[in-house]
Formats: sequence, C-alpha cells, structure tokens
Amino acid sequence: MKDEVVISIQHASLEYNSERGKVLALKDANLDIKRGEFICVLGPSGCGKSTLLNIIAGFHKPTSGCAKMGDEEIDGPNWKRGVVFQTPPLYPWLNIYDNIAFGPKKRKLPKDQIERDVNKYIELVGLKDFKNQKPYELSGGMRQRASLARVLVNQPEMILMDEPLGALDALTRTNMQSLIREIWSKTNNTVFFITHDVDEALSLATRVIVMSARPGRIVKEFKTDFTYDIDGPNSEAARYSREYMMIREEILNIINTQNAASGTNE
Ligand SMILES: Nc1ncnc2c1ncn2[C@@H]1O[C@H](COP(=O)(O)OP(=O)(O)O)[C@@H](O)[C@H]1O
Ligand SMILES: [Mg+2]
Repeated sequence: MKDEVVISIQHASLEYNSERGKVLALKDANLDIKRGEFICVLGPSGCGKSTLLNIIAGFHKPTSGCAKMGDEEIDGPNWKRGVVFQTPPLYPWLNIYDNIAFGPKKRKLPKDQIERDVNKYIELVGLKDFKNQKPYELSGGMRQRASLARVLVNQPEMILMDEPLGALDALTRTNMQSLIREIWSKTNNTVFFITHDVDEALSLATRVIVMSARPGRIVKEFKTDFTYDIDGPNSEAARYSREYMMIREEILNIINTQNAASGTNE
C-alpha cells in the first residue's frame, strides 16, 4: 500500500532524570514514517537523535506525546523493529551462523525455516565463507554485515540504525552504504538511519531530517532522490548537481548554526 504510515510520532517529548537533574532531550517531535521510506537523521551531537530512535525501537517511552506503529502504541522492543548499533552486539562465543540464528531460534521457528533464512541472509550480506568464524576473527565491516543479517533474518518491518558505519574506514563505509541501499531496494524495507555525515545521508535517503541542538526538535526536512543514481552511471552527475550542492550547503549551515548556538561539541 502506497503512503501507508508505519510509524507515527506525535508531539513526543522526552525528559531524562539524570544525576545532574532533568534533561529535556527531545521536544515536541512530530514525524510520520511511510512504508518504503529511507529516512536519514542529521543533527549536532547530543541533540536527541538516539533518543528519537530509542523511542521508535521501544527502549524508551516519551514523557509526553506518543509513538505508534500502525494503530498500536509502541510499548517495548519488538522483532518487527530491528536495531543495528554502531558497535555490533554479537555474542563472542557463537560463530557467525549461530549469532544470526539466535533470534529465530529464540522465537522457536521451525528448524528448516531457520536454516533456510539464516543461509539466505548470510549470502545476502556476503559472509557465506565466514559462517563458521567467531566475531573476533572478522573485520569491523564484516561484523557490521553480520549484525545487519542478524536483524534482517527476523524480517522486520522497519530497520533502525544508529550511526552504524561510524566506526568503519572510508572504503568499507562506502561498500556498506551500497550494501544497505541494495538491501533496502530488494526488501522494500523502511529504514530510519542516524548519521553525522551529510554525504552519507544524501546518498542513501529518500528523506533527510535535520534536528536542532538540545532540546532536540525536528527543524527541517528534505525529500531527496540521489540514492537512485549514486551507485549507477549517473553517480557523478547526481553528486555534483546543483540541487545536491544546495541541499548539502543548507544542511551544513543549519548544523553549524546549531553547534554555535549551543556552544558545545559534546
Ligand atoms: N540515559 C540518559 N540519562 C540522562 N541524559 C541522557 C541519557 N541519554 C541521553 N541523555 C542526554 O540527552 C541528550 C540527547 O542525547 P542523545 O539522544 O544520545 O543525542 P544524540 O544521539 O543526538 O547525540 C544529550 O544531552 C544526552 O547527554
Ligand atoms: Mg546518538
């Protein structure tokens, strides 16, 4: 169904109680995420990006306002919303196959289905020859592929990624971007992706959301379609187009102004 709203955030605010007192991390966020969208979130450090992701994941409940998936209020984590973190939380004592099979086994899915699905996603992320290895035997990029497969094997309706490529070197990062784009277009999944890299956001997103410094608010949105060209023959044309440059400049201006206003670089 086109334009079907998967996630709806309405007037969501979140206040943490910390030792130093109350921290208003997110203020009156409103966002509808439609099926098939690839949303990239940008904003200065500490502006509440992870807080917003954690609300969608179900790790946190907004202090006021609400977060829904379909018609249901989000009330705790769920396989339907898979989360990929910057540091892949793989079990060091399990090999890659068993790490990926962990979720389906826990859900007690039929054995042959588990085997079929795990092998399918291991292949999709290019780790077929590494399934018997332990995580420590793999590079950072491969561990992140494994972590992606571990989320995909549950066939989530939505994939949430919190700066997943932040710890990778530039070349691995570009390869991972291509893989994530390919998976997104193949599976027709809905993605919510946090990054601090404007070019990464513009090369992946169908919509870029920019947040303000704390208390985090959504200050600007851009619909973009560079992702359809960036891996193809028109890559250079897209990357150096006037439109790309203008949006890039505008986003950087917003973020720099926000950084200056908050006076921090937390
Ligand atoms: N568990 C917590 N307790 C208290 N304050 C927190 C907690 N988590 C985050 N914060 C604060 O909330 C603000 C937003 O944090 P976060 O969502 O992690 O920002 P971002 O992901 O954009 O860097 C920051 O000022 C941070 O210090
Ligand atoms: Mg964060």
